Amino acid sequence: MNGIEGGVAIVTGGAAGIGRAAAERFAAEGARVVVADIDADDLAETVDLIEADGGEATAVETDVSDADDVASLVEETVDTYGVPDFALNNAGIEGSSAPLADQSLEDWKRVIDVNQTGVWNCLTEELAVMADNGGGAIVNTSSIAGLSAAGGGPYVASKHGVIGLTRAAAAQYGPAGVRVNAVCPGVIDTEMIDRASDEMGEETIDQIVQAKPLRRMGEPEEVASAVVWLCSDESSFVTGHPLVIDGGYMA
Ligand code: NAI
Repeated sequence: MNGIEGGVAIVTGGAAGIGRAAAERFAAEGARVVVADIDADDLAETVDLIEADGGEATAVETDVSDADDVASLVEETVDTYGVPDFALNNAGIEGSSAPLADQSLEDWKRVIDVNQTGVWNCLTEELAVMADNGGGAIVNTSSIAGLSAAGGGPYVASKHGVIGLTRAAAAQYGPAGVRVNAVCPGVIDTEMIDRASDEMGEETIDQIVQAKPLRRMGEPEEVASAVVWLCSDESSFVTGHPLVIDGGYMA
């Protein structure tokens, strides 16, 4: 027993990639999962996949950049399954990799709205109910771009911001029993990387992958297992930590 079974988890960006893999993993370990995303069709598919494996999940269409949407997400979670014990704030977009001076204010705002304000919206709602309920564990998806310049300017800034929010939340809510950590994936084989490869060229992605000591992309499931570990009792003394999952790239 690692404390996941019987719990309630919220996963944003749960319609694809890392979010879907994490939702499936939470469900496989016995949590009831609320998956949230802007993509209603793929979100329904995540629920189908979880149910086909005997798990329990509910979809709530949510735009994480919209504070009202996120408030409804947490409210619906409480109404459906009870106060969340775990959350993965993971929805994100890559933005453009063009040089800073070639990007517009709109480019900047969109990435910050989803990646950083989205995590802010989720944290404020989740922390309030978890603290009232005696505790919980939250993981925010940052990136190696949260620790280095591994991406476009708005993306890098947003992911550094996610680590800052993670640390602030961990410091403030530890006494209330809420642990808050971040995961910092390297190149993980998802649709986001397919899109980045279209924009930057397959060769660039290949060079990044070949610069990793493990010489391969990661799989979404490899991030999912770290997320579930960070929410489990196995990591009971870990909080405020940005966990790098990158095949050794940052080394
Ligand atoms: P993905 O593109 O496969 O999935 C992202 C999901 O987020 C999609 O289902 C999308 O519809 C959803 N989403 C986008 N905007 C949203 C919004 N405003 N509200 C709700 N949902 C929204 O991408 P992937 O790779 O699974 O990425 C997940 C997270 O991991 C992102 O935060 C990303 O920045 C981060 N990450 C990904 C890496 C990779 O190599 N794939 C590396 C490091 C971090």
